Amino acid sequence: MSFREMWDALLPIGRGPDGGYRRFAWTEAELACRAWFVAEARRRDLDLERDRNGNLFAWWGGRGPDAVVTGSHLDSVPGGGAFDGPLGVVSALAALDELRAQGVRPARPLGIAVFAEEEGARFGVACLGSRLLTGAISPERARTLTDATGTTLAEALTAADTSWADGTAGAALDPGGIGRDEELLGRIGCFVELHVEQGRALEVPVGVASAIWPHGRWRLDFHGRGDHAGTTRLADRQDPMLPFAHTVLAARAAAERHEALATVGKVQVVPGGVNAIPSRVTAWLDARGPADQAVRNAVADVRQAAEDAGKLHGVTVEFGEESYSEIVAFNTGLLDRLIAPIERAGLPMPPVLPTGAGHDAGILSAHVPTAMIFVRNPTGISHAPQEYAEEADCLAGVRALAAVLQDLVSA
Ligand code: HGY
Ligand code: MN
Ligand code: MN
Repeated sequence: MSFREMWDALLPIGRGPDGGYRRFAWTEAELACRAWFVAEARRRDLDLERDRNGNLFAWWGGRGPDAVVTGSHLDSVPGGGAFDGPLGVVSALAALDELRAQGVRPARPLGIAVFAEEEGARFGVACLGSRLLTGAISPERARTLTDATGTTLAEALTAADTSWADGTAGAALDPGGIGRDEELLGRIGCFVELHVEQGRALEVPVGVASAIWPHGRWRLDFHGRGDHAGTTRLADRQDPMLPFAHTVLAARAAAERHEALATVGKVQVVPGGVNAIPSRVTAWLDARGPADQAVRNAVADVRQAAEDAGKLHGVTVEFGEESYSEIVAFNTGLLDRLIAPIERAGLPMPPVLPTGAGHDAGILSAHVPTAMIFVRNPTGISHAPQEYAEEADCLAGVRALAAVLQDLVSA
């Protein structure tokens, strides 16, 4: 199966009429993507492993120790693009094919990983699979995470028909067994993730990551008093929509003030009737920036603005951090080992650039040497249907990844 054939097989899964994807963890579309990966791994006689957290690993040459692991994720944000995640998985399979075609015999195992719930689009915590693997989130907290329907992660794991993953008939995941996997972590020598670039910085097909910016997510609940839109005087209202609206604008102002980024992209209004003053508005803040203090200061300003506006409108405000990732500086030793193989593959010198996007590589970097390869995205758009990479650049990314992996599995 060539890159193009794999890409074309994966492309329609979970794609909506507007071209945006909805591949939420442990839902039909994402399970179909997993089944696609399992079939591709089996086609290559790779040794399939599903870890206790539902992350998939396809091994070539044993299961470690000191394995070189590559891969990414297959889940998406709502309305996401085709490349964020899948490009890293398809490229990993294609790179392995290239190594085999060149007759490479790995001196150490090579693994291809598919991490679960990287986007946190269903259960709210990004990189959930890699956070569980590394212990960055407690299994107790993870089990109780709920999706928009109130389904907990524990219930979703139990319900998902994942028996095909490792061939164990009927073996759905046991939510009681999720958590840090010391033994598996101990088998990983390093991790290299290829990812579509989520910006406009690349002028050449392939770049490498220097760092991931600090970033986090906060939940705000504005509790007001539901009432009739047509019979309630303005003076009598406790309308949570008003402090919410003020907070969205305050977030933008705080981001500008602190040279950070702040986004409110998700909001839930209860009850959500056209002719009803809401009783509650829940919103999520995503804040990031090149410096930790800038993010912290911006978030503090947003919280203050929300609370002040709440007081003004008789609305109580709850503000809580859902996840936070400190800055990740990629392992320079490993980063430096990417450059020469990429140039040997006939590609221009790869620029070294930071990203504001979070990745499983960022979570794993606290435990094993990690690095990232970026493939040019001419639109610079991500987390939307316009996310794109030219096929020639994707194939350049495969060549770059194959060259890097060959160097790492041979040493
Ligand atoms: O949100 C992010 O930065 C990543 O795409 N999960
Ligand atoms: Mn993403
Ligand atoms: Mn991603």
